[in-house]
Amino acid sequence: MKISIASDHAGYELRQIVIGHLKDLDYEVIDGGALSSSEPYSYVEAGKKVCKDILDGEANKGIAICGTGIGISMVCNKHKGIRCALCNNEYMARMCRQHNDANVLSFGARVVGQALALAMVDAFLDEDFTGGRHAVRVGDIGVLEQENFK
Ligand code: RB5
Repeated sequence: MKISIASDHAGYELRQIVIGHLKDLDYEVIDGGALSSSEPYSYVEAGKKVCKDILDGEANKGIAICGTGIGISMVCNKHKGIRCALCNNEYMARMCRQHNDANVLSFGARVVGQALALAMVDAFLDEDFTGGRHAVRVGDIGVLEQENFK
């Protein structure tokens, strides 16, 4: 499984920790976004990079980090075919896979600590989509995309 991860400057430090964790678990990682925590970098560009990697078939899933997770999740959810879940706890990270078939996890480096971030990453990557009635609802999101996105 290949994971694309990107962040703005606010998420830079936490992103390095998440990348180390993913590599320890033998995931292939595509790294993008800010090159340091000191130079401002737009969460818009970071979110676009993660989504492009997924939509181009270069990555299976994505992780998008900014200060709050809000801006970058908004950016990701402007892409057709991307279901980005902004999560603040492990339960949300688990459920966004089971019920929503999220393909991008986002969180805020100024909101969650390192241990919680890694627990959410593990939950997100370990869980599968339940399907069934949830597949109907996720399908309806796809219909909305067709209606509202060019
Ligand atoms: C950067 O200062 C901050 O605005 C950004 O990381 C994020 O929190 C936006 O949603």
